[in-house]
Amino acid sequence: MNRATAQDAVLADGVTLRKMTAADLEMAYAMSTELRWPHRLEDWQLAFALGQGVVAERDGAVVATGLTWRWDRNFATLGLIIVAEACRGQRIGHRVMEALMAEAQPRRILLYATAEGRGLYERLGFVRIGEVRQHQGTALPAPLVALDPGWRLRPASHRDLDALIALDARARGMHRPALIATLVAEASHAVVLDHDSVAQGFALLRRFGRGWSIGPVTAPDALGAQALIAHLTGLNAGRFTRIDIDFDSGLAEWIETLGMRRVGTVTTMVFGEPPASDAGPRLFALATQAFG
Ligand SMILES: CC(C)(COP(=O)(O)OP(=O)(O)OC[C@H]1O[C@@H](n2cnc3c(N)ncnc32)[C@H](O)[C@@H]1OP(=O)(O)O)[C@@H](O)C(=O)NCCC(=O)NCCS
Repeated sequence: MNRATAQDAVLADGVTLRKMTAADLEMAYAMSTELRWPHRLEDWQLAFALGQGVVAERDGAVVATGLTWRWDRNFATLGLIIVAEACRGQRIGHRVMEALMAEAQPRRILLYATAEGRGLYERLGFVRIGEVRQHQGTALPAPLVALDPGWRLRPASHRDLDALIALDARARGMHRPALIATLVAEASHAVVLDHDSVAQGFALLRRFGRGWSIGPVTAPDALGAQALIAHLTGLNAGRFTRIDIDFDSGLAEWIETLGMRRVGTVTTMVFGEPPASDAGPRLFALATQAFG
């Protein structure tokens, strides 16, 4: 096929791409609900407020969505990529991805792929670097995790914000001040893990989707992460609670004992060099699959 015919083919299918606006969010919400994704309209609004979106239209109707979040000079994440079921397999997902990657570049890009999306992302140059397990269910009262001397949990205050942003940046390998400030402000509980009165980790509990979400969870080690998660789970006992946990954390089995059963797996994929984290704090649970 020569170039002219290839372009004609793109035009002939009547699909156009444009920037997402706030007016698209109701439609985007309807599309994710159709897929049985849990996002509320508020979850879409937050995602849109922090990122840049693209929609594909055919005959004036939105047929695909996707967003990118340019967290710092080096890294972006991509997510909420949806193509209406009747329109799949026509390279619309591919075109949405190309537009989002153009927005994100020259940053390296991280995403969490569903089984359906993985092939598309691989063909675009994304590489698998890990796995995240989605756990959810009615939280059980959690036994407290005993900490070594010098370590303690306490509620976060507004004075902690800079420290929490710095912990997130070290653990995630991306500097995300707007995200952390927004999530802390929204959280019903924000808890800090101190060592000798210096913050070494933190975790947030907030409304998301069908219930509540624990994340991000940042801690120096698995015991610290367990203390943070058990504390928030205990506070939320009896409520529908979700956590997206890094499989390499080794905590997936333990999470089940808190009432949050594994319901799905997504593949961690990166375009370019993966984000580096130093020997310090680690990200045990994601903020959300879209934000990373
Ligand atoms: C993942 C998703 C966005 C892909 O969208 P899409 O528009 O179907 O993507 P594309 O058409 O560009 O490519 C998808 C597949 O169709 C194939 N394809 C491309 N052109 C095609 C054509 N003309 N005819 C048939 N198949 C075609 C591609 O090779 C690709 O194959 P794969 O199964 O190996 O991946 C879509 O399936 C979807 O919305 N799924 C549900 C939500 C979801 O999981 N989103 C991903 C979140 S990370």
